[in-house]
Amino acid sequence: MSGPNTSYDPVEVEALKPEEIERALADALAAVAAATDLDALREAKAAHTGPSSPLALANREIGALPPQARAEAGRRVGQARGELGRALAVRQTELEAERDERVLVEEAVDVTLPYDRVPAGARHPITTLSERIEDVFVAMGYEVAEGPEVEAEWFNFDALNIGPDHPARAESDTFYVAGAEEGTASGAVLRTHTSPVQIRSMLEHREPPIYVICPGRVYRTDEVDATHSPVFHQVECLAVDEGLTMADLKGTLDHMVRSLFGGEGMRTRLRPDYFPFTEPSAEMDMVCYVCRGESVGNPDRPCRTCSSEGWIELGGCGVVNPRVLLACGIDPERYSGFAFGFGIERMLMFRNNVQDMRDMIEADVRFTRPFGTEV
Ligand code: PHE
Repeated sequence: MSGPNTSYDPVEVEALKPEEIERALADALAAVAAATDLDALREAKAAHTGPSSPLALANREIGALPPQARAEAGRRVGQARGELGRALAVRQTELEAERDERVLVEEAVDVTLPYDRVPAGARHPITTLSERIEDVFVAMGYEVAEGPEVEAEWFNFDALNIGPDHPARAESDTFYVAGAEEGTASGAVLRTHTSPVQIRSMLEHREPPIYVICPGRVYRTDEVDATHSPVFHQVECLAVDEGLTMADLKGTLDHMVRSLFGGEGMRTRLRPDYFPFTEPSAEMDMVCYVCRGESVGNPDRPCRTCSSEGWIELGGCGVVNPRVLLACGIDPERYSGFAFGFGIERMLMFRNNVQDMRDMIEADVRFTRPFGTEV
């Protein structure tokens, strides 16, 4: 059995020769000194202390030496690595200090400079009121529904039992979308109310129960004035279920006005009216939330909000006409429903004492800001 090779000279291991170690250390120290920023230093460190650096390779060779030569070689490599480690730490501290100083100068903020006085914006009160109304209904389990503003005539009129000769179809009320060819009709209109969303909801759900609330933009050929605009907003409510009656409609309306206007005595009343898509139909009024009806016949206590009438007109409502249910494939023998719709601008006008429709259209921040940024 052969023993260790005692004549093996460690100096003969190339990587471990003193001059090799010295050269590796000198290269490494030069690279450290040459590093002018932290990235360069990180690169120098990787090149000279990483697993394939000359000093790491030399360190690995030590194990191959005969035992008596290892201590000497180990010390030599260890010293070199120690010295490099210290040089790296010193340079790191120097470069960090330089960087901190540079950042302080380059990123200094002059707090005495005047800043841009960009005024805070505000959400439009039409949006916040719509969302408030949605919330009242979502809390009762309703879903929020949507439909397109460019609507097929069939959804806007026919399916709602609005016959071809109904005055609401007249060009004088409705924006018709022209066909591709000159003089032809496209069959599309800008929706004149949110009621087509009733049809869309029923066709989408197919099977009742259906409880939807739908706020949205609608269009009519009105000139802009203090109380009119060709574009305004409505909110539509539709409920279809077994056994729904006018009483459910009334209870829902009462709950809505109590939630929106609060306090004692808020309620609604219904007056007979006509809509092709509801039967019976009614005009709905709510108690004046300012005087609560006390201005009526009471000249000492006039009310500007309701012109001392005690009631404020809200919009239209009724029990869904069975013909509408049939148009949507819902069996009117089994199901019944109620619906209502009203204008949001109108409600905002009496609720927040907005005098002019045009203020709501322009949405000047001076108009919207006093409503706050309520969400
Ligand atoms: N769509 C009707 C309108 O624009 C309002 C309404 C909705 C009436 C639902 C009855 C039921 O005036």
